[in-house]
Amino acid sequence: MTKIKEIYSSEKIRQRVAELGVEISRDYETIERPVIIGVLKGGFSFLSDLVKHIKVTDSLQIEFVHLSSYGAATVSSGTVQTPYLNLPNILNRHILVVEDIVDSGRTASFFLEYLNDQFLPASLKLASFLDKPARRVIPVKPDYTGFVVGDSFLVGYGLDYAEKYRELPYLGEIITE
Ligand code: IMP
Ligand code: MG
Repeated sequence: MTKIKEIYSSEKIRQRVAELGVEISRDYETIERPVIIGVLKGGFSFLSDLVKHIKVTDSLQIEFVHLSSYGAATVSSGTVQTPYLNLPNILNRHILVVEDIVDSGRTASFFLEYLNDQFLPASLKLASFLDKPARRVIPVKPDYTGFVVGDSFLVGYGLDYAEKYRELPYLGEIITE
């Protein structure tokens, strides 16, 4: 049977995401038309809450890509798939990538490299709701991190286990009995 143990409540998440919004607002205050790129599917919840807390001079441009490295397993498959990678012309813009979690680092490093090659961004940063450094294979360090987590499989607030539990308003750990 699968049980889910709460790690961070929705209230705790709300507070932390608001703090990150303040931090990002400070750094992007005077930047011209920042581009926020959400990485689907897992990043939808974090992006949706985060952008509401970003208060900057210019309006944001929000884009999405769909990347996948897991399939239905709880261990990264090792290759990054790109089910949807259509972006408009964002040449030389200031780009902030929004991810659910950096685990092995493969997805983030693949995508950051892709953006660097394709669009020569004026700046390129990464905001990740979670950072799981224990499993890192490729060195990636998010510029903004919600929570640093241990080596367990987490669900909720956008994160799934075999496409389940993304809708949970809290972050939980899968306990298999
Ligand atoms: P990476 O490429 O290994 O860094 O993995 C990144 C992707 O794997 C994330 O965007 C998630 O979709 C998925 N992932 C990694 N760890 C977890 C987890 O604990 N729960 C759910 N999904 C995870
Ligand atoms: Mg996933």
